[in-house]
Amino acid sequence: MTGALHRIVPLLDVPEEELSVRDGYFDLLAGQPVRSTRRAQSMWLNDIGAGLYDMVHPVTRLIAPESRRVPERLALEWGSTVLDLGCGPANITVSLAHAVGERGLVVGLDVSEKMLARAVRRTAEPNVGYVRADAERLPLRDESVDALCSSVVLQLVENVDAVVDHIARVVRPGGRVALSATAAGYGLARRLTPHVGSFAGAHMFEPDELPSRLADRGFTGIRSRTHGMLQFVDARKRPA
Ligand SMILES: C[S@@+](CC[C@H](N)C(=O)[O-])C[C@H]1O[C@@H](n2cnc3c(N)ncnc32)[C@H](O)[C@@H]1O
Repeated sequence: MTGALHRIVPLLDVPEEELSVRDGYFDLLAGQPVRSTRRAQSMWLNDIGAGLYDMVHPVTRLIAPESRRVPERLALEWGSTVLDLGCGPANITVSLAHAVGERGLVVGLDVSEKMLARAVRRTAEPNVGYVRADAERLPLRDESVDALCSSVVLQLVENVDAVVDHIARVVRPGGRVALSATAAGYGLARRLTPHVGSFAGAHMFEPDELPSRLADRGFTGIRSRTHGMLQFVDARKRPA
C-alpha cells in the first residue's frame, strides 16, 4: 500500500480489514459489475472510451479555461485534503496535488476501472491516492475533506440529489466546492444541447439546477458561469 493510500484509510467509512488494493487503488466495488444506461458513461467504463477521453479533455481545457483553474477556484492551501470526485484519468487530480503540497492529500475517486488504471499510471505525486467507488454511495466520512472538485461528472450520474447530498456531507464547514457539468446553455448551444444530451445520455443542467441544490444544502457565495455547453459552479459550505 502506498503512503497516500495509508493516509486515505481514516477518511473512509469502511473498516480497514475490508479494504483491498487492486492495480494501485482501493477497489470498493470489487466483484460488483458496474454498468450504465448512459451512452457517454458506458464509454468511460471501457478501455477505448477511456483512451478517447484523452483527446476530448484538451479541447475542453481550450474552450473552457475554468477547467484549468480548479486549484484557484477552490482557494487551495498547503496541507489541504481534497476529493476529486469522478477523477477520470487524473487530468485535474495532479494539479490539485501540486497545489496542496506534500502535507496535503488528494483522493481521486471514480467508478471506472479503466479510468483509474490510467490515473494510477500517470500519477507520480506521492500525495495522491485513488479509490474506486460510486459517487451515489460515497464511502467517505462526514466532514472529511477541506475541498471537493467534480469536473464534468454530475451529468452522468443516475441520482444527482444523492450525489449532492454526499458532497454536502463530506465537505467540512467552510470548505469549498468547484463543480462543472454539461449545461443546456444559451443561444445556439441551447438549440443543440437537447440533441447532444439525448444522444450521449447526459443530463444538460438548467442554469439554476446546481446552484439551487447547493443553496438548499447550506452552501453560500454560489457563483455560476456557463461557457457553451458547460456550466461551472463554485460555492463554500457555511462555516460552523
Ligand atoms: C467526463 S469524465 C471527467 C473526468 C475528469 N473529472 C476530468 O475532468 O477530466 C467523467 C468521469 O466521471 C466518472 N463517473 C461517472 N459516474 C460516476 C459515479 N457514479 N461515481 C464515480 N465516478 C463516476 C466516469 O467514470 C468518468 O471517469
